[in-house]
Amino acid sequence: MALVVQPTAFCRPYVRADLPSSLPRLSPFPFLRSLGIGNKFDSVTVGPLTVSPMGLGTWAWGNQLLWGYEEEMDAELQEVFNLAVSKGVNLFDTADSYGTGKLNGRSELLLGKFIREYPGKDAKNVNIATKFAAFPWRLTPSQIVSACKGSLKRLEMEQLALGQLHWSAANYAPFQEQALWDGLVAIYEQGLVKAVGVSNYGPKQLRRVHKYLDRKGVPLSSVQVQFSLLSKGADQMELKTVCDELGIQLIAYSPLGLGMLTGKYSPTNVPSGPRGLLFKQILPGLGPLLDTMNQIAKKRNKTVSQVAINWCICKGAIPIPGVKSLKQAEENLGALGWRLKPEEVASLELAADQAPRGMIQNIFQTS
Ligand SMILES: NC(=O)c1ccc[n+]([C@@H]2O[C@H](COP(=O)([O-])OP(=O)(O)OC[C@H]3O[C@@H](n4cnc5c(N)ncnc54)[C@H](OP(=O)(O)O)[C@@H]3O)[C@@H](O)[C@H]2O)c1
Repeated sequence: MALVVQPTAFCRPYVRADLPSSLPRLSPFPFLRSLGIGNKFDSVTVGPLTVSPMGLGTWAWGNQLLWGYEEEMDAELQEVFNLAVSKGVNLFDTADSYGTGKLNGRSELLLGKFIREYPGKDAKNVNIATKFAAFPWRLTPSQIVSACKGSLKRLEMEQLALGQLHWSAANYAPFQEQALWDGLVAIYEQGLVKAVGVSNYGPKQLRRVHKYLDRKGVPLSSVQVQFSLLSKGADQMELKTVCDELGIQLIAYSPLGLGMLTGKYSPTNVPSGPRGLLFKQILPGLGPLLDTMNQIAKKRNKTVSQVAINWCICKGAIPIPGVKSLKQAEENLGALGWRLKPEEVASLELAADQAPRGMIQNIFQTS
């Protein structure tokens, strides 16, 4: 059984939110900080890991095609990492497939470098959650072991905090699925990871993998899916219920709807590339939601992005917003240390329900 304590399961008043703002944001005592004490937020347990209630996603770090990454961004990305760690964020999500073309693996390489070059001791507590792609040629457990060793090599680490299957093969190559699960068993038993998780699993397949791993004595600690005000359909909500029942932590990817929930895009101002095509379909119907987010943000002296991320936290998920700049990182860190009120959560959901279209479900997500 995975041991999961979820202080965030319900949207309740935040215990330390009323600290005077003159207090330092971080405890001067590193041992307290590593316990999450002294930060303005509580920690969350993911199996054996104690993590910040929000992590950061690094899909963009190396991805030119979708996210317009350039190597000149690396110095700023290092500052993003340093800032986040100094503020107590200790969960970074990556994947062995992140990085386009010759930049494949770039996200893991950069994270490894940033940890080594961090000016202080806090980076020792950083939890790297990587994902192993279910490539069609990964047909045996030993290929997942090799994938894990490849990630460790790029990160220059001996053990990962969390090793996740990036997606399930159940929808298109069910014969591959058990080998992937046995791969998780192998990396756990070999001590290459502290905990294992899956991604893009729906409620039914999550129960199956949990049962399978449980029989092998391997706790399933997390499931990572698209989860946001634009991706909160019946499947995602059923998944959360299954997570609560089985003691699995939900990790919310694309909590900003790829940028649509930041408030900076509009039907006439969309990013270039494939995201723009998607945004043109969805953004015209987001008026009521973005208006509601804006009103709440103004009232609470927060920003639209912070409201979007905080909603995920209120639903008991760990959001991992992607960040490309120091400015975005600073803003997103402001989603921590406070809570939306239950009535604000309700009005956001009501407004989200008015949108004719939400995010398109990841094609790999199973039932
Ligand atoms: N398991 C999976 O299959 C899977 C799939 C997708 C993502 N993920 C993980 O989840 C992470 C987050 O998801 P995501 O990157 O897809 O989408 P997201 O977090 O919803 O959106 C991130 C993008 O929004 C923009 N942004 C972020 N903060 C902002 C701010 N404060 N103000 C204005 N713009 C801001 C940035 O792009 P622009 O500046 O270009 O607008 C940023 O790259 C990924 O990095 C990855 O680690 C996992």
